[in-house]
Amino acid sequence: MYELGLVPAFKWRLEVLEQKEKVKTQLIGEEINLNVKKEIVIFIYRIVNELIQNVIKHAKATEVSIEITQVKRKYYISVRDNGAGFDSNNRKIISGTGGFGLLSIKERIENFKGHFFIHSEPGKGTLAKIEIPEIK
Ligand SMILES: Nc1ncnc2c1ncn2[C@@H]1O[C@H](COP(=O)(O)OP(=O)(O)OP(=O)(O)O)[C@@H](O)[C@H]1O
Ligand SMILES: [Mg+2]
Repeated sequence: MYELGLVPAFKWRLEVLEQKEKVKTQLIGEEINLNVKKEIVIFIYRIVNELIQNVIKHAKATEVSIEITQVKRKYYISVRDNGAGFDSNNRKIISGTGGFGLLSIKERIENFKGHFFIHSEPGKGTLAKIEIPEIK
């Protein structure tokens, strides 16, 4: 699947989400040529998939979007939902229980010199953003 590249993989993931969960989805920035190192394509896909799993498990959202943006040579991928939200300032929540949860996402992306940000408030949905390291 990922061999097609990240944009088609995201499109497919959102289509499945629409069919299974009856939420409206949107892919923004699909025209951006995501020039990402081959070794991290699957890894990025898995992160986005985990963020979508979280939306399904926790958010009860009616709208979900993936947005790709580029600033100079850096790429950002955001997953946004309009669901239940949570207090993202509460470190206990982020510190998690192992698995491929938020803490694991943060640690793994930082191993690749990327960054992970999440912002949420109860009742206000959730925005998670990955900064992908530059290709040198
Ligand atoms: N999109 C979201 N909407 C609402 N709450 C969320 C969302 N994403 C995460 N959370 C909250 O943050 C907590 C931590 O998420 P995390 O992915 O680390 O763990 P988990 O999903 O509970 O477990 P695991 O990912 O290991 O199955 C969740 O339990 C949930 O309370
Ligand atoms: Mg999770």
